[in-house]
Amino acid sequence: MAEDRIVAGQLKSDDLWDRALRPQRLGEYIGQEKVKERLSVFTEAAIGRSEPLDHVLLYGPPGLGKTTLGHIIANELGVGIRFTSGPAIERPGDLAAILTNLDDREVLFIDEVHRLNRTVEEVLYPAMEDFALDLVLGKGPSARSLRLDLPRFTLVGATTRAGMLTSPLRDRFGVILHLDFYPADELAVIVTRSAELLGVEVEDGVALEIARRSRGTPRVANRLLKRLRDYAQVRAEGRLTRTVLEEGLSLLDVDLRGLDAVDRRVLEAVGRRYGGGPVGLETLAAAVGEEPGTLEDVVEPYVLQMGLMERTPRGRQLTLEGYRYLGLEPPARQTLLPLQETDPEP
Ligand SMILES: Nc1ncnc2c1ncn2[C@@H]1O[C@H](COP(=O)(O)OP(=O)(O)OP(=O)(O)O)[C@@H](O)[C@H]1O
Ligand SMILES: [Mg+2]
Repeated sequence: MAEDRIVAGQLKSDDLWDRALRPQRLGEYIGQEKVKERLSVFTEAAIGRSEPLDHVLLYGPPGLGKTTLGHIIANELGVGIRFTSGPAIERPGDLAAILTNLDDREVLFIDEVHRLNRTVEEVLYPAMEDFALDLVLGKGPSARSLRLDLPRFTLVGATTRAGMLTSPLRDRFGVILHLDFYPADELAVIVTRSAELLGVEVEDGVALEIARRSRGTPRVANRLLKRLRDYAQVRAEGRLTRTVLEEGLSLLDVDLRGLDAVDRRVLEAVGRRYGGGPVGLETLAAAVGEEPGTLEDVVEPYVLQMGLMERTPRGRQLTLEGYRYLGLEPPARQTLLPLQETDPEP
């Protein structure tokens, strides 16, 4: 079900297209100014010392540009990059094979780094710290341990759930960068840039309107643009006008705040079926027919940040704003937390 959503994670069909729009250098990467500034200082320093860049952890909701930054880091360092992901590395030997095959100072990008299993993770500790692999040869009393030198490398770990990283792993990253949702004006720049790359003509002000409905997420902005481009091509000779925008968005079922049918279904379930909550994640997921993980990674961060729902120790609960959004009367006595205390990160 999540497959055909505008806000879903990386889709296979979008791979090629995504790659074409992906900025290659820090200078093309829009927004996240603090992150860019830090990376540019750290990469320049590493290059100056002919050392690998310290290990980098990138965390934040899906589609904000973690993988893109991984590529950019390698490009800025002028080194190669290898991609893998936490669940893809099943045994310590798999990781050892990857590590021993790296070139000097190369970047190893591990997506979903919170999903590494424990035995694999333990191989990573000395690799990150000392560029070494500890091997145990033989069994029982005659077992010997052997230390093998590895090429120097930079691990770039990406995760949507920094809270699920073990602390020994987290502590081994020298640079920890958090990506946050993008403000609409920055997303508008991304939309304009993508439209140019795609050769779509966009009427004045339309890029900002697309940006406003993109849940603070570049991937969503690009995807909306792509779908609106189809609509423009078929109905308006390729020009993305205000009329195309309005008709296209209603066809896509995206509302003024960028919420789509699934978001609304989740809010409706909390509001109507569970009387505003609190309701547990699993129960809520079952009620709307989504995986709890999808709810947590894709729906919740934005809905929480919009201040429509909040996480409490007893479950998910509508905020006053959430009741208003659904056009429901809030209960008379409800303890609602102020918005600032709603933390989108686990
Ligand atoms: N700062 C940016 N400037 C321009 N385009 C961006 C930026 N960040 C992301 N994008 C675009 O958004 C798309 C999604 O970004 P990316 O794949 O890097 O996200 P991600 O954080 O790795 O997501 P996931 O958690 O799902 O892996 C990219 O293809 C890229 O075109
Ligand atoms: Mg990614």
